[in-house]
Amino acid sequence: MATDQNKFQAIISHCKEYGFIFPSSEIYDGLSAVYDYGQYGAELKKNIRDYWWRSMTQMHENIVGIDSAIFMHPTIWKASGHVDNFSDPMIDNKDSNKRYRVDHLIEGYADTLPEAEKTALIGRMEELLKENDFAGLKQLIEEKKITCSVSGTANWTDVRQFNLMFSTQLGSVAEEANEIYLRPETAQGIFVNFLNVQKTGRMKVPFGIAQVGKAFRNEIVARQFVFRMREFEQMEMQFFVRPGTQQEWYAYWKEERMKWHKSLGLNPANLQYHDHVKLAHYADAAVDIEYNFPIGFKEVEGIHSRTDFDLKQHQQYSGKKMQYFDPEINQNYIPYVVETSIGLDRCCLMVLSEAYEEQDLSTPEKADSRVVLKFPVKLAPIKLAILPLTKKDGLPEIAQELMADCKKNFYCYYEEKDSIGKRYRRQDAIGTPYCVTIDHQTKDDGTVTIRHRDSMEQERIPLASVKEFVMKKIAEQGFMHN
Ligand code: GAP
Repeated sequence: MATDQNKFQAIISHCKEYGFIFPSSEIYDGLSAVYDYGQYGAELKKNIRDYWWRSMTQMHENIVGIDSAIFMHPTIWKASGHVDNFSDPMIDNKDSNKRYRVDHLIEGYADTLPEAEKTALIGRMEELLKENDFAGLKQLIEEKKITCSVSGTANWTDVRQFNLMFSTQLGSVAEEANEIYLRPETAQGIFVNFLNVQKTGRMKVPFGIAQVGKAFRNEIVARQFVFRMREFEQMEMQFFVRPGTQQEWYAYWKEERMKWHKSLGLNPANLQYHDHVKLAHYADAAVDIEYNFPIGFKEVEGIHSRTDFDLKQHQQYSGKKMQYFDPEINQNYIPYVVETSIGLDRCCLMVLSEAYEEQDLSTPEKADSRVVLKFPVKLAPIKLAILPLTKKDGLPEIAQELMADCKKNFYCYYEEKDSIGKRYRRQDAIGTPYCVTIDHQTKDDGTVTIRHRDSMEQERIPLASVKEFVMKKIAEQGFMHN
């Protein structure tokens, strides 16, 4: 697998230096696998979230969105299987005390092998995982003499399961306190509201419920920036269908979600499907959409055919009927569910990885370079930078007037400090697609210079048409459904 650790590290540094993503609690030396989004990162994340939300809800008449609480009744996690099954097989190195997820340990080793050996090893591992054969997994690790990256030894414990949910106490008095969990997925908030939404929205199967929100997992191996965090955001949609039609809908959403990723302007060669061999306890089919990150192809989204597992379980544990009456066939049934589940943070990292480019612009006369983030206009944190050439001669006043007009429609940035060249470079580094410069000619003939981020070309257009120019560019990229 071709990986580029240098590029990955460069993106992490760039995110920090330009206000996209900071390590959490940095002044206290950080908190492992927790990150904060800065001014541009928050804007990028919001644009991706909004784009997903609108693609799901506004563009589908049979999908509605909800916002359920993070705290939920603890029995929900018993019913969903998370209390008993939401765990990963782990192994500890006895010399370094470092804990590894078994599949990550083996995959890391497999990456160092020639392609044919790697495929054979991954195949064996997947078979053992499917069988929950922990002794077999340990034997495989020993047979391949896989060592710990810290101690360098192969002195391993047995393979054990480790639950990934965080728990806390609800209630102010110790005796009254109940142990509850921070939700490890947003999906259960949708399942338990299935009938509320169906009845109040008069929804007819097939229909979907979408939700965006925080999820929490006590990840063991969490050292890949925002790719694997302990607090992260998910964008999930449960699509409720008539039993027996789930394979059709699974195929539909598999294709539809790939189209959505391509509509983010990603190179199709950087996207691939990965069908699951080991299915989660609730699924009868599952596939990942993977992106070619600098650290290799990795999962960004999962599409799962979850059968009627969750609704049936909630019916059993709550004692409340979870059935739907289908007027077309005159029957009651528990719907089957096809789920699409994408990590918003991974999606941000995917968009950042695709956009990040280091360019050498040197000429024989002068060494020069730039880092540019080539975001699609619709996702860029700032759409237009408004730059008066100088701080005098009435140019800032004209620029401020343009700013007041444009900021009602899209996010603009005003700056009058430093040379125009430096200001362009700063905007390139945060991915602003257009810069407009107000100069002395503007006062004479009412025109301005628009500079294009990617080509660095400049053109002269009327000041009065700047707002329309940018709005047209945003609209041109439109929606995948256009
Ligand atoms: N409801 C199904 C579910 O949660 P999942 O495959 O465990 O499925 C869905 O998670 C998506 O959530 C993943 O494809 C990934 O993008 C994101 N995700 C999962 N764990 C994550 C973590 N620790 N940090 C960041 N994103 C994560």
